[in-house]
Amino acid sequence: MKPAAARSKKGRGVFCNLPLLFLIGAIQFLVIYSPAIDRYMVMITKGKPGFPSLLLDGRRGFKLLEEEFVPEPRVACDFADPRSDVCELEGAIRIRGSTSEVFVVAPGGAGAANVTGLGAGMNATSWTIQPYTRKGEARVMRSITELAVRVVPPGEAPPCTVRHEVPAVVYSNGGYCGNYYHDFNDNIIPLFITARHLVGEVQLLVAQKQRWWFDKYREIVDGLTNYEAVDLGGDGGGEVRCFRRATLGLRSHKELSIDPRRAPRNLSMVDLKRFLMWRYALPREHAIRTEDEEAAARPRPRLLVIARRSRRRFVNLPEIVALAEEVGFEVTTSDVMSSSSSKQQQKAAGDEGQARMAEASALVNSFDAMVAVHGSGLTNLVFLPMNAVVVQVVPLGRMEGLAMDEYGVPPRDMNMRYLQYNITAEESTLSEAFPRTHPVLLDPTPIHKHSWSLVKDIYLGQQDVRLDLRRFRPVLEKAIRLLR
Ligand SMILES: *[C@@H]1O[C@H](CO)[C@@H](O)[C@H](O)[C@H]1NC(C)=O
Ligand SMILES: *[C@@H]1O[C@H](CO)[C@@H](O)[C@H](O)[C@H]1NC(C)=O
Ligand SMILES: *[C@@H]1O[C@H](CO)[C@@H](O)[C@H](O)[C@H]1NC(C)=O
Ligand SMILES: *[C@@H]1O[C@H](CO)[C@@H](O)[C@H](O)[C@H]1NC(C)=O
Repeated sequence: MKPAAARSKKGRGVFCNLPLLFLIGAIQFLVIYSPAIDRYMVMITKGKPGFPSLLLDGRRGFKLLEEEFVPEPRVACDFADPRSDVCELEGAIRIRGSTSEVFVVAPGGAGAANVTGLGAGMNATSWTIQPYTRKGEARVMRSITELAVRVVPPGEAPPCTVRHEVPAVVYSNGGYCGNYYHDFNDNIIPLFITARHLVGEVQLLVAQKQRWWFDKYREIVDGLTNYEAVDLGGDGGGEVRCFRRATLGLRSHKELSIDPRRAPRNLSMVDLKRFLMWRYALPREHAIRTEDEEAAARPRPRLLVIARRSRRRFVNLPEIVALAEEVGFEVTTSDVMSSSSSKQQQKAAGDEGQARMAEASALVNSFDAMVAVHGSGLTNLVFLPMNAVVVQVVPLGRMEGLAMDEYGVPPRDMNMRYLQYNITAEESTLSEAFPRTHPVLLDPTPIHKHSWSLVKDIYLGQQDVRLDLRRFRPVLEKAIRLLR
């Protein structure tokens, strides 16, 4: 019965497809050999956008198509989101990197195009957009390339020099690029949200492209696109790249995380973790579970203590390690990727950046728990296995809320556990530099009111941590219980 069914299905397929095969053959013959037929081709294809481009890949056919068939464009912008501006363009889109210009070709002229979602006071025929995810921060946004978008009639757009079959994603690699936290928060995660659902069939056009950055994160970038990213500013010779779809800007939902309800295909941070595991060939999906073992034979969960080299160090690191071992952890200390050093150093490390990322991701993935003082080293949590426990030690300075947003929510979104330890004034080395009654120790509020840079200078730049072991012990005990 089964073989018979298969045979009849196959027979029907051949029968149905024969005329189509002849038709395709005839069309190919005509496109290749007959110049007179081009106009006819365009006529039959006019009503069916999408279909003709496959057949009309010959130069002349394409040119005519381009001249005579321009679809009505659709432009949907979102200038209302607090984190980033994004425009989705569909139709005949032409991008000239050398001048940061984007042309949306509209057959009915500029006024007839369907443009939605522009910012207040913007002109629906031309506007600008900065494709970077720190929209609210005027200082850093000043350094970001501005794209000028214009809706133009066919005659006013520059001709294509390169034609891309896949959609474009245009964004800036400038800003805070080089800081480990920002690389993930402003760049990698927004790219993942914006482009992952295209499963590699996407062309990145990168303003302010930094080569060392693309070397360092090669595994991630190559997992997101099958094509070499184009340096928009360095696109020499006034290249005009043509697309049928383009996204200007990256989507960003929250700190170091994704809101699946707003992401294409409901992508989540768990998807990001699986993606990173795939790209870096990480072996451990889940942290250790010690519950099944006999108490005596129980393997010790592995704890990574991130030891910063610059400020916000653990002053009494050896005692912390001893305590963690006593509680039952196997402890390793490392400064893995936590030196948020100068841009210069980051760039110098560009060549080895890729190797350092491979090493860091593999190292971090081998642990079940991590303890770190607030800072970019915590970003390593993206490589921990699921169910792992993240402990953030928050220094003095009314940063508990910020610390929670930046590193407290992401572990939960990745199916991990999170514990926060807010230190007391006695545990801060600031208590050695300032008298006990000084406002720096008593109430950081006025300093916050004064300026963030003063907060950064004092609480992030001058403070180390001496953990009170009696107070910290229950946190480690809880962490180990969570791994049972
Ligand atoms: C304009 O585009 C939006 C979505 O992009 C669509 O909902 C709307 O119907 C379009 N309006 C016209 C007049 O085509
Ligand atoms: C939009 O701006 C262009 C160029 O600045 C101008 O020519 C056009 O009249 C403006 N359109 C509207 C509706 O304001
Ligand atoms: C994503 O989630 C939302 C709400 O949770 C749901 O309404 C929507 O259908 C989901 N979309 C997809 C593509 O699964
Ligand atoms: C630390 O501070 C945050 C924010 O104020 C708070 O939610 C959390 O409960 C505090 N943690 C502890 C252990 O007190």
